[in-house]
Amino acid sequence: MKYFRIPVVGLLGATLLLTGIQAASAHEAPGGAQAPLRTLADRADLRIGTAVDMAALADDTTYRRTTGREFNSVTAENVMKWEVVEPARGTYDWSGADALVRFARDRGQVVRGHTLVWHSQLPGWLTSGVADGSIDAAELRGILRKHVTTEVKRYRGQIQQWDVVNEVFEEDGSLRDSIWLQKLGLSYIADAFRWAHAADPKAKLFLNDYNVEGINAKSTAYYDLAKRLRAEGVPVQGFGAQGHLAIQYGFPGDVAANLDRFAKLGMQTAFTEVDVRMILPVDEEKPATQAAYFRGLLDACLGTRSCKSFTVWGFTDKYSWVPGVFEGQGAATLMDEGFGVKPAWGAVREGLAAGR
Ligand code: G3I
Repeated sequence: MKYFRIPVVGLLGATLLLTGIQAASAHEAPGGAQAPLRTLADRADLRIGTAVDMAALADDTTYRRTTGREFNSVTAENVMKWEVVEPARGTYDWSGADALVRFARDRGQVVRGHTLVWHSQLPGWLTSGVADGSIDAAELRGILRKHVTTEVKRYRGQIQQWDVVNEVFEEDGSLRDSIWLQKLGLSYIADAFRWAHAADPKAKLFLNDYNVEGINAKSTAYYDLAKRLRAEGVPVQGFGAQGHLAIQYGFPGDVAANLDRFAKLGMQTAFTEVDVRMILPVDEEKPATQAAYFRGLLDACLGTRSCKSFTVWGFTDKYSWVPGVFEGQGAATLMDEGFGVKPAWGAVREGLAAGR
């Protein structure tokens, strides 16, 4: 996967944005005398969330404690994905997803469901069946319907927002050539939303993608799709911008205006997977720029009532997906590998404290 962003020179002066931010010093423990992020977020009527790595949650006490203390929303980083929940056809493994939902309930957190229809992390039995022709289009549609219905029903009433379809457009706004599009045609998107809504009428149903924070060809493709589907009565209720940024590509343009146009369609919005990576090594300036990027997205979210949640894709570099995918890049989260807070933590804290 390639994340690419056009630099927007001067749009977001890191130093400008950081003016007034009491950047927390590295290795200062979060919490302590300070109110947790979730307390500040509650006051701002916002869900502050994190993706959760279930292995870390089980094995790492500091990780587990911080997840519970600081966040009022959680997303499964992997355990609700199809390859995990149905590793063999008709054989389900809900252990990880159940554990996360339980963890959240015990701590008064909401859950973002991630993700029902995606081109990635599909079970092998499904992709090989489609490839060798043993699963034809009609059967595939039935399989997709069963998957969406089974998973959404299982957690009915316990998921605040579902990422129903994930990453369906290319950068130029053309539809991604996934097995879903190839075999089922465009109607799979509306179908998935309708099936999910029937299975849990209260969950807010989201489109979700990366590189759609600002106004560009890809986010405009989502806007046009959402507008059309809503006009047809399809229950598309939310637009999620993942927020995987990189400081070397600049801050995206028109983020607030982008959220606003979805809000005008009557939709909720959210940042769903925020992290801000950099080319390693970390130096004196990069953490301040990173902090400004986190704050820029957060402020855009706080600036519109449509934006209900701001989720980071992991809060510590110890478990971040970034270095494994982008060679030579990392340090993308709010805390370093030893759970020391970075300037970005202070920036998010200050932003939440300032409120809407
Ligand atoms: O579970 C297996 C484990 O059994 C095995 O030993 C290990 C060996 O590599 O792999 C484990 O699976 C890995 C899985 O993460 C769980 O750790 C996969 O290889 C690895 O590909 C997978 O990566 C995830 C990635 O999605 C897959 O595309 C990342 O953790 C996860 O952060 C990332 O999240 C995505 C969002 O869902 C959608 N948006 C982009 C975002 C970042 O890529």
